Order: sequence, then structure tokens, then C-alpha cells
Amino acid sequence: MKEVNHLKGVILAGGLGTRLFPLTRVTNKHLLPVYDKPMIFHPIETLVNGGIEDILVVTGGNSAGDFLKLLRNGRDFGLKHLNYAYQEGNGGIAEALGLAETFADGQPIVVMLGDNIIQGNIIEATKKFLQQESGAKILLHPVSDPRRFGCPVIEGDRITRIIEKPADPPTSYAVIGIYFYDFSVFNIIKTLKPSDRGELEITDVNNAYIGQGKMTYDILHGWWTDAGSSKGALHKANTLVAKDGANNLEISLPG
Ligand code: G1P
Repeated sequence: MKEVNHLKGVILAGGLGTRLFPLTRVTNKHLLPVYDKPMIFHPIETLVNGGIEDILVVTGGNSAGDFLKLLRNGRDFGLKHLNYAYQEGNGGIAEALGLAETFADGQPIVVMLGDNIIQGNIIEATKKFLQQESGAKILLHPVSDPRRFGCPVIEGDRITRIIEKPADPPTSYAVIGIYFYDFSVFNIIKTLKPSDRGELEITDVNNAYIGQGKMTYDILHGWWTDAGSSKGALHKANTLVAKDGANNLEISLPG
């Protein structure tokens, strides 16, 4: 992917946010405040800090029109314009990503879940991904309860499989919601079948790349949280951002 100068970014901000009811009964979870900003500001700033200038926001569910009112053309982030797509229903992260195919236009992309917030930045991870010939890169972070996340099986220096919400976690890492993909991701999405929770799973996308031997990973430094996954996580995200701020360019990079 050496010929790529500008990676495109996709932020996934759909879903019904049922884990946060009643906070999300009338609005989208990504519009809720995390300390001093609406939640979705934080991942947009992560992409912009990572040098991403062309961004698509995929939304859906409650209050989809409010994203346009809130984000407008992205001037708050130094962007010239923003792109939007609308996910009908609640078909999962990978289904939402499928809506980005026209936007990606044959190019590789970085995908960030709209409720993921990081203390540091993705600058080095982005550089390393662009040095790959093809394939995908994921980022891991140590967590106290891997059963809530996608969890990698690591053998030697390779991830051999990711298990979504494992009853018996093979490691203490979570696969966080920042994913780097080449354009073949859109072909992979077309082969997916809904999981037991009725969604097209991003973990199935990642396992397809692992099966092809085309997945790399890094450990993300600084804290990471998925603010929209529970009320406790939302509270924690508020506390962390108030204490440290998010998207710090000085935090050391994935190693
Ligand atoms: C999703 C992914 C999971 C990942 C997590 C990160 O979980 O399915 O693999 O670890 O995001 O935020 P969900 O929030 O859909 O339960």
C-alpha cells in the first residue's frame, strides 16, 4: 500500500445503544457527552490527529439527523467537509462498514467505532499499516475483563484467532475498535453470515484476514475505553477524559 498517501477514515456511529437505556431512548449513544464533548468528537479527533482528512460517518437508529446538525462540515476538527451514510436497522458493525465501499473507492481505510476513546494516538500504527503490502492491522489493549470484548489467541508473535466475548478468555487482551483494512474487506463482508446476536461481526472479518495470513497487530499504549458499551464504561470514560484528556499526541505509540 506504499502508493497510498491519504488513508480514508470511517467512523461507525449507528446502533440502538440498548445497553445504555434509558439514556439512549431518544438519542444516539454517540451524541451523549463524554466529559466536555459529545462522544463522537473523540474518535473524530483520533482520526484527524492520525493524519486522516477524508472521513465518513456511518450513523443510523435514533437521531441520525442530529449528526449533521452537530458535526456540520467538520470545521471544529479542521476538516473541509464530512461524508455521511445511513445504516438501516441494527445489522452490526461489519454491516455498517459495508456501507463505506463507495466512499473507500478501492483504497485502504481505517475504521473506528464511534464509542472508542483513546488517551494516545494512532500515528505510528497508521504508518506501519501503510508499509504493509496488503491485509489488515488490529490494535490490542490489556483489559481486566476480556470476556466483554473480542479476545485474541496469540501463538508466538502471531494472532491465530479472535474469539468474540469468550467465556474462557485465552489472553487478557481486548481487540479494540480501531481497525486498518485494505479494500478486500468489502469482499469479506459480503461472505459473512449473522452471528447468534443477529449481527455481522467485525471479529468474523478479522478472522478472515487471519485465515489468509494477512493480519498484523500492535499494542496500543495509554488508556483505551469503549464508552458506549455499558453505563459503567460511560462513567469511566468521563472520569478518564476529565483527568487526562484524550488524543494526546505525546503518548508513546504502539510498539
Ligand atoms: C465490539 C466488537 C469487539 C470489540 C469491541 C471494542 O463489541 O465486537 O470485538 O472488542 O467492539 O469496543 P460490541 O461493542 O459490539 O459488543
